[in-house]
Amino acid sequence: MINKELEGSQLDRQLMYINMCREKVNQLSNELKRPLKCCVQTFGCQMNARDSEKLLGILQEIGYEPSESEEADIVVYNTCTVRENANLRVYGRLGQLRGLKRKNPHMIIALCGCMMQEKEVVEKIQKSYSFVDVVFGTYNIFKLAELLYNRWESGKMVIDIWDSQKQVVEELPTVRKFPFKSGVNIMYGCNNFCTYCIVPYVRGREKSREPRDIIREIERLAGDGVKEIMLLGQNVNSYGKTLDNPVSFAQLLKEIEKIDGIKRIRYMTPHPKDFCEELLDVMSQSSKICNHIHFPLQSGSTRLLKAMNRQYTKEQYLNWVDKIREKLPDVSLTTDIIVGFPGETEEDFEDTLDVVRKAQFDSAYTFIYSKRTGTPAASMENQIPEDVVKERFNRLLETVGEVSHSISARYENTDTQVLVESLDDHEPGLVTGRMTNNMLVHFPGTADMIGKLVDVRLTECKGFYYMGKRKTDG
Ligand code: SAH
Ligand code: SF4
Ligand code: F3S
Repeated sequence: MINKELEGSQLDRQLMYINMCREKVNQLSNELKRPLKCCVQTFGCQMNARDSEKLLGILQEIGYEPSESEEADIVVYNTCTVRENANLRVYGRLGQLRGLKRKNPHMIIALCGCMMQEKEVVEKIQKSYSFVDVVFGTYNIFKLAELLYNRWESGKMVIDIWDSQKQVVEELPTVRKFPFKSGVNIMYGCNNFCTYCIVPYVRGREKSREPRDIIREIERLAGDGVKEIMLLGQNVNSYGKTLDNPVSFAQLLKEIEKIDGIKRIRYMTPHPKDFCEELLDVMSQSSKICNHIHFPLQSGSTRLLKAMNRQYTKEQYLNWVDKIREKLPDVSLTTDIIVGFPGETEEDFEDTLDVVRKAQFDSAYTFIYSKRTGTPAASMENQIPEDVVKERFNRLLETVGEVSHSISARYENTDTQVLVESLDDHEPGLVTGRMTNNMLVHFPGTADMIGKLVDVRLTECKGFYYMGKRKTDG
């Protein structure tokens, strides 16, 4: 149980460390005759990104100026370990950081996030990356100021990894990447133990936040000018089941819908095994919940789904797709698919292709199975040879491409509302925004439109995005 009183005193403790760090940063900045810069890099999912905002909030409170460049006075890598690639990227980039640190001896390198919850990783860092200053995990990101201060005091690498969520401190300052949209954690951890997945081991057991805390946070965000929120959890539709006063995810959505100022509500990720009609009803009656469901398939083979411990069959998945299309005819469906899970046969793989064709996904994130030490699938027999997986992966990409191309083009020459997010990266004179179904649209516009909802005519579908023009432009 997380103790509220402890939470309060922990908050005071962290605010004290923030003050102490601020003095130190001030002093250093006077010595160096320049402001100190901080850079927080996100390697993982939306939850990881939300944690990065909290880390940046603490660093700015301490007196660091945010910087996109890693030539900074503190660099924090908020790591991910869901696939081997995510891991390797961190080690590769650490090598480059070492070079930067040689040029700036004041530089602090901090590593946190999911990868740090693995014992072998921390051992490797201690042994081969001794230039790293601070290492912490997923359960204690609120302690950044304390750990940083300890590093300065001790002059040694500080390592603080917890094995479970003992406390949550939610009242510390955060900095949002976008002023007009924000992620909101509604739950932490995961209880599903899909056999390929490391997340339950590095993020701990599922725990829902109290609805009133979530609502209060969103009301505050709305007061701050936030228009779009993304409710975050590994399995959002099991939200609330274990609260003292259980609340369903659909009920939570209904309450959030009432909050003035919030124009768009997204959520990520629902699990097909816990999907329900109540959620579809709430979505079909809502004017704020976005027209998009990310509905992770993983595999189309009932046999493999069982081995993955996903707890639904191919038929149940497709049944939900039918019901979703019936209640929300215009919804965009996206998915996650893994290729090459141990024991996957050609027939299993054909089942996956079959679901892709039948479900008509707008897009799919496709992953090559990655063996994660400690998960049940890692020790399964019949790991699939690389050449077989690659060949299947390419065929899957092809099928997904064919399906999504014709599906995503269905909005061509229609009008839609776009929340403008930024100036276009590539072409001057254009802005980039998102449709309610999460697709990107590029159209002529100016910086003052950022954060606003504008009416846009979609003139041309370019596959995964649209070109458009503002409706008032005629
Ligand atoms: N909780 C969410 C997403 C978790 S991780 C869900 O259940 O859908 C995001 C995606 O990474 C997963 O949907 C899965 O497709 C992929 N993934 C997770 N573990 C993986 C592994 N070991 N190898 C390859 N892909 C993996
Ligand atoms: Fe991993 Fe499965 Fe939990 Fe998603 S639901 S985080 S895939 S264990
Ligand atoms: Fe990665 Fe952790 Fe998210 S392992 S996908 S950052 S929960």
